[in-house]
Amino acid sequence: MTDATEIRRAVPSDIAGAARLAAELVRLHHRTDAARFYLPERLEEGYSGWLSRELTKSSTVILIAARNSEIVGYAYGRLEERDYMVLLDRHGAFHDLFVTETARQTGIGRRLARAMLEQLEALGAPRIVLSTMAQNEPAQRLFTSLGFRPTMLEMTRERSG
Ligand SMILES: CC(C)(COP(=O)(O)OP(=O)(O)OC[C@H]1O[C@@H](n2cnc3c(N)ncnc32)[C@H](O)[C@@H]1OP(=O)(O)O)[C@@H](O)C(=O)NCCC(=O)NCCS
Repeated sequence: MTDATEIRRAVPSDIAGAARLAAELVRLHHRTDAARFYLPERLEEGYSGWLSRELTKSSTVILIAARNSEIVGYAYGRLEERDYMVLLDRHGAFHDLFVTETARQTGIGRRLARAMLEQLEALGAPRIVLSTMAQNEPAQRLFTSLGFRPTMLEMTRERSG
């Protein structure tokens, strides 16, 4: 099944499909912890606009996994310059990775992630940094197997009363 799935750079006609998956990723975060991850309005529309603009930048990588003409996976990353606030020198930021539920556990997530690492490194990223929700063990297992190490732990506290 995996063999029929192509991993490639997104083109403008892929953006609406990629935006649907990006919106699903946001909803997953909100379902997991609604207080920490707010739910923006008009998600698909907002992402379509954002990803269309990002697609024109040479420092951005948007990948899709396509099976027949259906988009079953999406990844988004970007080369970032030095950021004093988070003590990060120039790096690749791996922002989003999403595979549709019915296409999971067939190797597509790993192929998308590997392709993203290759492309960000080809752009000159000396290291790649990402965040996953603390509860997201499948993603952490995948990223650990690709050589990522835990480096930061975000903690959130709601106002009492
Ligand atoms: C995380 C995600 C991208 C994995 O995609 P996938 O196509 O199912 O992953 P693969 O089939 O390539 O599996 C790669 C590795 O991920 C891990 N993994 C995937 N699904 C898993 C599960 N249900 N439980 C535990 N580990 C899992 C395993 O380490 C697996 O390697 P293995 O098969 O050698 O054990 C997918 O589950 C997903 O889209 N989840 C929702 C969004 C998300 O969590 N995104 C990542 C954080 S931004």
